[in-house]
This record gives sequence, C-alpha cells and structure tokens, in this order.
Amino acid sequence: MQKITAAITSVGGYVPEYRLTNAILETMIDTNDEWIKSRTGVEERRILKGEGLATSDMCVPAVLELCKKRGILPEEIDCLIVATVTPDMIFPSTANILCDKIGAVNAWGFDLSAACSGFLFGLTTGSALVESGRYKKVVVVGADKMSAIVDYTDRTTCILFGDGAGAVLLEPSMDGMGVKDSLLKSDGSGKDFLYMKAGGSLKPASVETVLAKEHCIYQSGQHVFKAAVKGMADAAFDLLERNHLTGDDIAWLVPHQANKRIIDATANRMGLSQDKVMLNIQRYGNTTAATIPLCLWDWEKQLHKGDKIVLAAFGGGFTWGATLVEWAYDTAS
Ligand code: UT7
Repeated sequence: MQKITAAITSVGGYVPEYRLTNAILETMIDTNDEWIKSRTGVEERRILKGEGLATSDMCVPAVLELCKKRGILPEEIDCLIVATVTPDMIFPSTANILCDKIGAVNAWGFDLSAACSGFLFGLTTGSALVESGRYKKVVVVGADKMSAIVDYTDRTTCILFGDGAGAVLLEPSMDGMGVKDSLLKSDGSGKDFLYMKAGGSLKPASVETVLAKEHCIYQSGQHVFKAAVKGMADAAFDLLERNHLTGDDIAWLVPHQANKRIIDATANRMGLSQDKVMLNIQRYGNTTAATIPLCLWDWEKQLHKGDKIVLAAFGGGFTWGATLVEWAYDTAS
C-alpha cells in the first residue's frame, strides 16, 4: 500500500492594522531605532487594538482565507490545532472557540503550547493525523496576541514582540508531497529563561503577582540568544544531514523570526545565501507561534511545487526543531 503523506494545500494569515513603529517606542521607553534594528532586525510590529478582541479573532480571518483559497467550507475541517501561548483564556481552548466562530461544526480541536516552536510541533502532530489515514482536512494555526502579555515598560522585551496569526491546511498526498521529516526537541531545564512567572497552578494570580508584573513575559535575553543560535542551527543542519541534503537542495529556509542575528547564524550553518531566507521580522516583529505560517503566507506566490523548504524554530521551554517540507502546489498569480 502506498504511504500517505500530509501536504500543505492552502495558507491563510492575518496581521492587525495598527503599526507600533520603533519611532513610537522611542516615545515610550529609553530606546532608539538604531539599537532595535541592529540588535534584532525589527522596524515595526502589528498590535491588535480594541476591547474584547483576542487571539481567536486573529485566527478567524486566517482560517477563513485558507478555506476560501482552497474552495472548502469550515464544515469540512476534521481537526483544528491552535499553537499559542496567549490563548483567549486558560480553558476552554482557543481551538474550541475558533471552531465555533467559523462554524467548523464537524471538527474537534485543541491548543498546543510550545511557545515559538508551537507551529512546528502542531504541524508534526497534524501531519501524523493525516498520515494515519483517519483525517482528511487538518488545520494547523500558529497565533499569538503577544501584546496581551508584554510589559511596555520593559525595554528588553517590548521591542521584540507583535501580534498575528497564520494557518495551513493539511491534506493527504499519495505522491510524497508535504511534511517529510521533523526533528523536534524539548528541554525543560530552560524553563527559567523565558516564561510567565504567575497565572498557572504553581503561582495563581493574586494582587501581588499583578503588582509585580508576573503575568508578563520574562526573558533572560542573552541566555536565550545563545541557546537559540545553537539549537536552531543544529536542528536545521542535522535535519539536512539525516535526509542526505545540502543547502543547495533547499529552496527556502523559513525561520522563526525572533532575531535577525539568530536567523543569519542558522542560514550560515546550512550554507544558504540570504536570498533563500524568508524574513519579515522587520514588519511584524516576533509573533511567537505565528512567525513561520506568516512567512508562508507572505511568500506563498514564490513557492513552487516540488520546492524543498526547511522550517526552523527555537522558543521558550526550551523547545526547538526543524521540519522538512516538500511544497505541494503552484499558486496562480
Ligand atoms: O522567540 C523566542 C526566543 N527569543 C529569542 O530568541 C530572543 C533572544 N535574545 C535576543 O534576541 C537578544 O538577547 C535581545 C534582542 C533580547 C537583546 O540583545 P542583546 O544584544 O543580547 O543585548 P543585551 O541584553 O546584552 O543588552 C546590551 C545593552 C545593555 O546595556 P549595557 O548593560 O551594555 O549598558 C542593555 O541595557 O543594551 C541595552 N538595552 C537596550 N538599549 C536600547 C537593552 N534593551 C535595549 C533597548 N534599547 N530596547
């Protein structure tokens, strides 16, 4: 019997209208455009403004766009996975809320928490569901409203993050297209370097935790930077090696957009030139689980059937990894 693989057959995305530029940040904290650009690559980030709007509200247009492009109705979705660290609420899952908002009445779904690697973990999980032969249409969303957990008085973190959502549709392929291999890692000993201190069962919310800003992101930047450079580059390189590929075989690197210097280090290790690297950090900042699907959304028209692409990420946890995908379609321009 022929093996079923999980092909990406459609992409959708959404970023909010409001642009938080470096110039605006200069009026809020002690920073400057030159420092932010040279240390991170970020020029502006999108922020979801408006009362009552949450992560699911960015997922809705992303998934509806994906359905429209593929010519399917939300009712046809079998399963929907939302990778996020900023769910609408701790429970029920954002996937549940999303299914209701878009009318995906025949889907089951769940949230997946793996920080910036969430989309890769979700893609691997969703692929396994399709490869099993049991599910025909699985949607994987990476979405985060980082502005909900950023402390805009902390200049070491608030310059980095933005809001957004990206989504892909996975369907069975009989000709080997789609997700070919994934090398994923988790190391909980990294938990103290990038995390939210309170709000979980370890330290429930209290007046003290709110006053101490413990519901915001805490990051030890340099520690994470060093681990990210090594983790993302090693994973991408090892993935190439075990698939007997070199940088010459790869059409695109689709890296998590945390810091341009981390992306450059990964591309160098893989032997890839800059023109093969998707980069939108300057426009969106670090949207956590959304960075990789947003790159696919932005570059969709430049992807061609048969292109081998490597998706790579590193994030809180620590979590990291790389995934090899063979692109399954050409987009009519
Ligand atoms: O997506 C999840 C994974 N996260 C990451 O991959 C992020 C990894 N880390 C980083 O990207 C970088 O560590 C940062 C961008 C967060 C910081 O860059 P850095 O080159 O590691 O800077 P640093 O923390 O070593 O700080 C250098 C200097 C310090 O001043 P002194 O002590 O040298 O006088 C900081 O106080 O830069 C100062 N600084 C700033 N200056 C202007 C820190 N933040 C700012 C700022 N504007 N926003």
